[in-house]
Amino acid sequence: MIHLVTGANRGIGLEFVRRLLALGHTVHATARDPARASVLAGLTPHVHALDVGDEGSIARLAAALREVDVVINNAGTIGDEASPLGEQTLAGLSAAFAINAAGPLLLTQALLPAIGRGKRKLVVHITSRMGSIGDNSSGGYYSYRMSKAALNMASKSLALDLAPKGIISVVMHPGWVKTDMGGAGATLTPEESVRGMLKVIDGIDAKSSGKFYNYNGAEIAY
Ligand SMILES: NC(=O)c1ccc[n+]([C@@H]2O[C@H](COP(=O)([O-])OP(=O)(O)OC[C@H]3O[C@@H](n4cnc5c(N)ncnc54)[C@H](OP(=O)(O)O)[C@@H]3O)[C@@H](O)[C@H]2O)c1
Repeated sequence: MIHLVTGANRGIGLEFVRRLLALGHTVHATARDPARASVLAGLTPHVHALDVGDEGSIARLAAALREVDVVINNAGTIGDEASPLGEQTLAGLSAAFAINAAGPLLLTQALLPAIGRGKRKLVVHITSRMGSIGDNSSGGYYSYRMSKAALNMASKSLALDLAPKGIISVVMHPGWVKTDMGGAGATLTPEESVRGMLKVIDGIDAKSSGKFYNYNGAEIAY
């Protein structure tokens, strides 16, 4: 199967590439700056430049991919995590929205012809439990929570709009993972998170479309 993983130069994205290659898949991987993605370049020859906040960059990637079975929209930012209420800005909120919500939707839209040519026709958006409105019991993290909630809504609409074409869209929470974003105190290693998510991905079919999954396969309330 042909996979595309965004934000693959470090963290969860890099681990997705490692595991997918070990399983024998073809992996196209993206980095904002491929010249600085030496670990990734040592894993797959298919490294592409992509800034998900740049429409020109999205168009160039889409033009380079004729067919893809599974798209993993993994690239993301924690946004203005330290900014409490009282210090929110349009610039900070917009930047997180562009990368976490608009970018994955625009990339999926641009890749529809390539996904349509694929056998699996699956788009997995890596969201966060922090984007669940039902699960929010601690507040804060405005730019991250709001942008991931918007991504969740995009996935749900994609699932509905693309069902006639047989294209599946889900959002998946990777758990709290030891990466630059998750920090050293997180509970899961990237290996544990990605192993769990790939098991869930294996079991996804048309009935799964529009759902919000945890890395262990449990469903999370929107
Ligand atoms: N770690 C956790 O505990 C946790 C929990 C819930 C959800 N998540 C989600 O899991 C995904 C991966 O997170 P991670 O922990 O691996 O984070 P990470 O270590 O901070 O890596 C983030 C990745 O996203 C890329 N990225 C950021 N902005 C981008 C942009 N504008 N265009 C393209 N790529 C961009 C980064 O590229 P650069 O190296 O160029 O910055 C990097 O490859 C994210 O969507 C995150 O929200 C993580």
